[in-house]
Amino acid sequence: MNATTVTPGIFRLSTNVRDILFEGLWPIPNGVSLSSYIVKGDKVAIVDGFCGWDGVPETLLALLSKLNIQVEEIDYVVINHMEPDHSGWLEAFRALRPEFTIVTSAKAVPLLEAFFRLGNQKIRVVGDGDTLDLGQGHVLAFTEIPNVHWPETIATFDTKTGTLMPCDAFGSFGAIEGAPYDDELTPDQFKFFEREAVRYYSNIVAAFSQPTAKAIEKVEKLLGDKVKIIAPAHGIVWRKNPGRIVADYKRYVSYQKGPAKAEVTVIWGSMYGNTASAIPTVIKTLKESGLRWREFQVPRDDIGSILAACWTSTGIVLAMPTYEYKMFPPMAAVVEELAKKKVLNRHVFRLGSYGWSGGAQTELDEIVRRHKAGWSFVSPVEFKGKPTEADLDLIEKRVRGLAARVHYAILRADKRR
Ligand SMILES: Cc1cc2nc3c(=O)[nH]c(=O)nc-3n(C[C@H](O)[C@H](O)[C@H](O)COP(=O)(O)O)c2cc1C
Ligand SMILES: [Fe+2]
Ligand SMILES: [Fe+2]
Repeated sequence: MNATTVTPGIFRLSTNVRDILFEGLWPIPNGVSLSSYIVKGDKVAIVDGFCGWDGVPETLLALLSKLNIQVEEIDYVVINHMEPDHSGWLEAFRALRPEFTIVTSAKAVPLLEAFFRLGNQKIRVVGDGDTLDLGQGHVLAFTEIPNVHWPETIATFDTKTGTLMPCDAFGSFGAIEGAPYDDELTPDQFKFFEREAVRYYSNIVAAFSQPTAKAIEKVEKLLGDKVKIIAPAHGIVWRKNPGRIVADYKRYVSYQKGPAKAEVTVIWGSMYGNTASAIPTVIKTLKESGLRWREFQVPRDDIGSILAACWTSTGIVLAMPTYEYKMFPPMAAVVEELAKKKVLNRHVFRLGSYGWSGGAQTELDEIVRRHKAGWSFVSPVEFKGKPTEADLDLIEKRVRGLAARVHYAILRADKRR
């Protein structure tokens, strides 16, 4: 846990969480940070909750004492977003400091009631264009950014310092051990957080890409002139170059509809090694193609990592045997999840072994159709039992075909950009 000064009058309280499945489902091998921001005028506001999992009051009191702020001084708790990673601390906070006002959107009120029982809690409802004057020039302005990531989400902006606190938007996974500020990171740390931002985006935000695009549009207009710092609730604070994370998020949104990067993700599963024995041919051919590739095995590798890789990939190879007239089940789960998160319009090649009937392709086609994923398939290669030399030759040819399609899609997209 950590308390630092973002800029005079704004402080960041943060903690890291590891060893959990985020949303009870996504592994976070590198952890995640949770941050609150304190805005201090004559009145004091705390924006977002940072210790949903990490023991209020100890953490909060320890960090506040580093900043010489008493918990009794906190007048307002701004709830940008009701998800319990940000609001889960409310009850514990209330026990510590009964006299404060919650500042939040109209849509958040019934959610708060359902999650925490409001009782006689003081609430101030804010929406687009509303402000809250804390004194000493710190005026908080609120903007609705619905569905980034829940329907009630707002962003809070301190007009004095140009600090935007957009909660989940512009966030990333990855615990923060050292400095949380973009002006203090090494190139390697940037790379780490870029990878973690893709993981976060693809696992948590992806399904809300269109609302995110709208939020980005709002923020882009205010960059430079008004928004000088972007301080999300997960991940690093952008105070040297906030435009960078906005541009990154714009790219992540654009990857949804494809094409994404010049990359191919290979996902394979195999019961007895027959499908597996064709994978070296796939990898060798991809290496020759000059495209970046990553390989995952199901069910061994986690679906969150697979999703992150597919989000930035323009091509996908799915290799799996037929199982009870359908796809190898962990592959079906992955394909469903990719389609639900709207990994759209990818170039896809499927291969795999069967025993007597086949049937994997029928299920794959059904999932893609049902979710309107718009995947464009290179002709599949299915083989009975072990692949023959001729099967492997055909697989090589088809992977080359896939690579050519990916190269071409990127070329066309580059021309348009
Ligand atoms: C539980 C189980 C269910 C299977 N169901 C089918 C099936 O419905 N249709 C079919 O053609 N083959 C079926 N097979 C045969 C496999 O598809 C075949 O053994 C294939 O070679 C396995 O490939 P792998 O070595 O990559 O796992 C099944 C095999 C197992 C073990
Ligand atoms: Fe969220
Ligand atoms: Fe969150």
